[in-house]
Amino acid sequence: MTGQRFIPPQTAAALFAAILICSSFVSSAADAGAGRNKAQVCIACHGPGGNSIVPTMPSLAGQPKQFITTQLVMFREGNRKDPQMSPVAANLSNTDMNDLAEYFSREPITPSARRTDAANITAGQRLTAEYHCVSCHGPALKGQQHIPRIAGQQRDYLLKQLQGFKAGTRFDMDGNMTAAVQALPDSAVAILADYLSALK
Ligand code: HEC
Ligand code: HEC
Repeated sequence: MTGQRFIPPQTAAALFAAILICSSFVSSAADAGAGRNKAQVCIACHGPGGNSIVPTMPSLAGQPKQFITTQLVMFREGNRKDPQMSPVAANLSNTDMNDLAEYFSREPITPSARRTDAANITAGQRLTAEYHCVSCHGPALKGQQHIPRIAGQQRDYLLKQLQGFKAGTRFDMDGNMTAAVQALPDSAVAILADYLSALK
């Protein structure tokens, strides 16, 4: 990533809010037990322990804690929007978000039951290296800090998000992800969603 990028003021404000909230998270200890209780409302959509069983719903189990808190803040502040998720996030306090992130980040991941064919595995490995997915999402694509785990995520959800980044409709706090997929052909987007969702 080279060169200076213009950060729109709205994004800068959201980032500032996220940093402020994340640093206040550090001082107050998160409570995974409280998070488990608060998560009862989430599992109706995100699945037991945050392991989604619905193709359009993202799994939350094993996501990096910072990724979960950041996304919740973005939904609450109205930067990222979704008709189902936004109303839920609107009612969460910083403590709630902290506890929920602590809980879901520690939940064991149910390995994906999906399979893909050998050709897609070869193509997926080539694409994730060529387009630097592994540099940010990690060598096993399990995420780190504010960057999500994409290995084993639901296929339909991955497809929607990748198409959204390409079209510029999925909110992206630093523009890195949008930039990363611009050169990807549509055929590669479909292969990636298939490949990633079958990763264990
Ligand atoms: C009525 C269904 C519903 C409920 C209840 C719900 N969510 Fe969601 N959530 C969604 C949908 C749908 C998305 C994906 C939105 C999109 O496509 O961008 C989402 C996205 C998310 C994301 C971003 C995941 C990612 O990989 O980018 C997080 C984090 C999240 N939800 C946390 C929670 C938490 C915590 C709760 C409980 C307090 C909760 N959700 C309750 C439907 C729901
Ligand atoms: C320069 C770093 C970077 C690169 C390269 C990158 N990503 Fe990302 N990716 C991110 C960040 C940061 C986010 C979170 C963006 C946000 O929500 O603001 C993200 C989000 C995503 C999401 C959304 C997942 C979810 O749960 O919401 C998908 C899918 C994804 N990336 C796939 C890929 C793929 C596939 C590639 C390679 C073609 C790739 N990324 C390359 C940094 C990167």
